[in-house]
Amino acid sequence: MSRFAYVNGRYECHTQAMVSIDDRGYQFADGVYEVVAISNGYPVDLAPHMVRLERSMAELHFAATPYKSALCVIAKQVVRLNRVRNGILYMQINRGTASRNHLFPSEKTGPSIVMTSRSGLGPTEVQAEQGVHLAMLEDQRWSRRDIKSVGLLANALAKQKAKDKGAFEALLVNPDGTVTEASAANIWLVDEEGALVTRPLGTDILAGITRARVIALAQEAGYIVKEKVFTVGEALSALEIFLTGTTTFVLPVVQVDDAVIGNGHPGEVGRDLRYRYRAFLEDLGPESWHVD
Ligand code: PDD
Repeated sequence: MSRFAYVNGRYECHTQAMVSIDDRGYQFADGVYEVVAISNGYPVDLAPHMVRLERSMAELHFAATPYKSALCVIAKQVVRLNRVRNGILYMQINRGTASRNHLFPSEKTGPSIVMTSRSGLGPTEVQAEQGVHLAMLEDQRWSRRDIKSVGLLANALAKQKAKDKGAFEALLVNPDGTVTEASAANIWLVDEEGALVTRPLGTDILAGITRARVIALAQEAGYIVKEKVFTVGEALSALEIFLTGTTTFVLPVVQVDDAVIGNGHPGEVGRDLRYRYRAFLEDLGPESWHVD
């Protein structure tokens, strides 16, 4: 089956879809993006993803920003054309196309918009049931990690380095010894009191949409959630560690480098939250496409 992509006003065959070599996304990583999970044909938390996308554009001072409602019409069409039931929707908005110059182009330069969608979602059953390993790495990203910029080179280097060390993801550490997040997911731990701990929002991490959803689900289930900075030492002595993200859902971590977490098996809290998150996905309906 052919895949389709939306590029600047047109739905095109995925393999033939193109952007200009003068696109600022290509030359300066001057663009922002979102990855939205599609579960049973419905988008997961589309509304907060769109709010974050708008915020990313505003933080980068994009002059012309497309309307959320228009983007959602395109998004639905891209998912439909690609017949995706369980997969992801990718949206990228760049500042626009202009002759190469570090300075922003004229305000009349429109943004460029690309959307794609493909099947395949979530971790494998084996990863979810057995838990994954992390490799501890220095966080080498820029200082505005709250902006979902396409400038992902440091994230890609970290993920590859983690893989080369036999791990699934990176546990990124700031120079002060505190844990930030993974290369493409947020990190949580369960402390000795059984409370959930995750780094507070700020410029050091991305405000994960799954993170926010899991905070709500956890609080609803009676867990105590502490948004608190934590050190590598606290992470290694935690009862449990898990990741949250659009493509990982809630994924237990059983080892960081050579240190075994808890008893080396996915803990009860992470497992419970994974089931609660999956139940939330099963409950989505057509209203998930509404963003206003
Ligand atoms: N990444 N932190 C980082 C650095 C991320 O790149 C992501 C998601 C997350 C989790 O955010 P959310 O729950 O909103 O997916 C945290 C996406 C999936 C990606 O870049 O492919």
